Amino acid sequence: MENILKSYVAQKGLMSLAEFMQICLSHPTHGYYMRSDVFGKQGDFTTAPEINQMFGEIIGLWLVDCMAKLPHEPEFNLIELGPGRGTLMADILRSMAKFKGKAKVNIHMVEISPKLTEMQRKKLAKFEPNIHWHKDLDELKSAINSAPCIFLANEFFDALPIAQYEFLDDQWFERMVGEKAGKIVPTLSMKPAQPNLPDILKNRAADGAIFEDSPASLYYLDKILAILKTNQGIALIIDYGHDGHGFGDTLQAVKNHEYAKIFENLGSQDITAHVNFTALTERAQAQNIVANPVVTQAKFLNDLGIGLRAQMLIRKNPDKKLEISEALNRLVAEDEMGNLFKVMALHYFDHKDIKSQFTPAGFGLE
Ligand SMILES: C[S@@+](CC[C@H](N)C(=O)[O-])C[C@H]1O[C@@H](n2cnc3c(N)ncnc32)[C@H](O)[C@@H]1O
Repeated sequence: MENILKSYVAQKGLMSLAEFMQICLSHPTHGYYMRSDVFGKQGDFTTAPEINQMFGEIIGLWLVDCMAKLPHEPEFNLIELGPGRGTLMADILRSMAKFKGKAKVNIHMVEISPKLTEMQRKKLAKFEPNIHWHKDLDELKSAINSAPCIFLANEFFDALPIAQYEFLDDQWFERMVGEKAGKIVPTLSMKPAQPNLPDILKNRAADGAIFEDSPASLYYLDKILAILKTNQGIALIIDYGHDGHGFGDTLQAVKNHEYAKIFENLGSQDITAHVNFTALTERAQAQNIVANPVVTQAKFLNDLGIGLRAQMLIRKNPDKKLEISEALNRLVAEDEMGNLFKVMALHYFDHKDIKSQFTPAGFGLE
């Protein structure tokens, strides 16, 4: 990976942070996500579905509720973005099977990594043989039929590249990546930049302030919104991040379940950034897509009854009481994932009975 980055820098002079992230995570042969050993205890990080089956089961219930609120729809496309090991979809399919409604559900997975695709195929074959895989949203768009779409994206947006800008001497400069003494290092562009600051942040930066944006996230979001507009449907986006514009550096690297230095272990550690849910909301609203106020993962899972589900699981498996209680705590406690992770629902339905009243479960009043 280091040589790939060096030859890129040699050709271009410097590369943007977004290009650096893109190559480190998604290079077709050496990118981090091309490996199969990144998740879980043996890997580098654990996501919510990998913590416990309750997470996927609750999302499955959310889906059943969503479909029940759209009773006139005979068919749906259920689309997962960045499905990792396939655990979330496996738990969803298991829980949805118990509440099978009349609607037909076509399942589509969008996954950039061939190794993870293979892992997902193996895991899901026993639940549902008829699942379709796509490497990107363009491929998905040409494969789906005209049924309403339900998108799920858990820890997908945090993996998309970001740009960073630093405010120095009254000017913004983009943070770049170059080579120094044979090492890949962070540096600043010499040329002043004009980042796309939201109005609320204009003329408010102090010296040394960092501004982040993620054109890649908006690029993916636009493709999702376009599909919602033609097919109708809803997108459930779960990730860690903030609701509200601000300054700050949220780029982070994780290896072996610990924070690591961004410019080390190139291609063999996860690099992510917090998702700016306000930027996603504003983008959706500008396109007349309804965005429910973003809620915390704790509120969403608690509203949907994760506490009760945990009690049921403990009753059935008393020997696993500690494990289940700890998992519940990790998912909803304020000092664990409960507050940092946010849940967003974006939807577009033009059916006259549904357009204005549709509130997905978990997004109601406290
Ligand atoms: C942090 S993992 C999350 C996995 C899973 N959703 C979970 O919660 O366990 C990110 C996932 O997104 C995939 N991914 C990253 N960038 C992608 C892209 N541009 N297009 C499609 N999949 C992508 C990765 O290969 C991986 O499956």
